[in-house]
Amino acid sequence: MNKSILITGANVGLGKETARQLAVGSEAEKIILACRNLKKAENAKRDLEASTGKSIFEVLIMDTSSIQSVRTAVTKLTEPIDAVILNAGGMGGKTPGKPTKSGMNELAASNVLGHVVLIDELLQRKLLKKVALLASTEAVRGIKKMGMLRPELKTSSADEFASILDGTYFGDKLDAMQAYGHVKYVATLWMSALSRKYPDIKFLSVSPGATSGTSAPDELPFMSKFMFKYIMMPIVMPLQGMIHSIDKGARRFVDSINGSALESGKFYASKDGYVVGKMVDQSTIFSDLGNHIYQDNADEAIHRFIN
Ligand SMILES: NC(=O)c1ccc[n+]([C@@H]2O[C@H](COP(=O)([O-])OP(=O)(O)OC[C@H]3O[C@@H](n4cnc5c(N)ncnc54)[C@H](OP(=O)(O)O)[C@@H]3O)[C@@H](O)[C@H]2O)c1
Repeated sequence: MNKSILITGANVGLGKETARQLAVGSEAEKIILACRNLKKAENAKRDLEASTGKSIFEVLIMDTSSIQSVRTAVTKLTEPIDAVILNAGGMGGKTPGKPTKSGMNELAASNVLGHVVLIDELLQRKLLKKVALLASTEAVRGIKKMGMLRPELKTSSADEFASILDGTYFGDKLDAMQAYGHVKYVATLWMSALSRKYPDIKFLSVSPGATSGTSAPDELPFMSKFMFKYIMMPIVMPLQGMIHSIDKGARRFVDSINGSALESGKFYASKDGYVVGKMVDQSTIFSDLGNHIYQDNADEAIHRFIN
């Protein structure tokens, strides 16, 4: 039973819908909305209280691209939580390639950096009891129909993973769509590494699948935003059965943390060639995901940016 759950990026999209579904279920007694913007977080809290009739939501200010912001946020937790959903992130906003203070670019920092600091701090302070879930994506093993390529690394060394996180891997021009899958790949490997270090806690990576009704397309550069928001998502993808509703996307997160079927250290997402529907262990599609050396190298690479 997950009575207390912290969700990052819970003011909109999948994070907010996950909070709603958890609240209308019978288990949750406290849901912490960890968001970077106070006003947006308070608005989401009000909406969620109105739509669920429950007063179990708390706001915690946390910017997942900032080590200090996450560390400060964790000091405000007064008791251990059962579950954490590492949901914040996306394509890195308007300047995905811009370096942050840590040395990771904004794309990597918002998806990975703060989440790693959050888990490190929670574990160190014994504030996480049961399960951590990372919002990953089918882009990690490639989505051919969307032109998103599977990462084909040369060495899968810590150096190479670090170059994905600071952006040098991609040369002068960062294509956020391609970089996004690579960055989530590093994060997904890190979650698997954690599962071997901390066998008493369950670490899952789960893709919500291609999901409509979120703010994700708004982050894209103008032309990609236009294509995705007004052509691909409302017209082309539904016709091809390549997108599902936000309640289905969030349901994957909720069922994954509440159920016992999924195995710690694995990444679950849609079947090969699909971005919706039944979920399967992705290492059966992309075997690198199950490589312990690559997992540990990803873990090491990420921690080079954290001090
Ligand atoms: N939608 C999909 O089809 C899809 C598919 C696969 C995976 N995913 C993953 O699912 C997760 C949620 O995506 P979504 O579609 O729901 O996107 P969304 O509607 O754009 O929501 C993203 C959330 O993350 C927050 N966020 C971004 N950067 C942050 C930072 N540095 N610190 C704190 N919060 C930050 C945003 O806060 P602000 O409102 O303040 O910007 C927002 O609350 C993402 O990790 C995404 O990669 C989505």
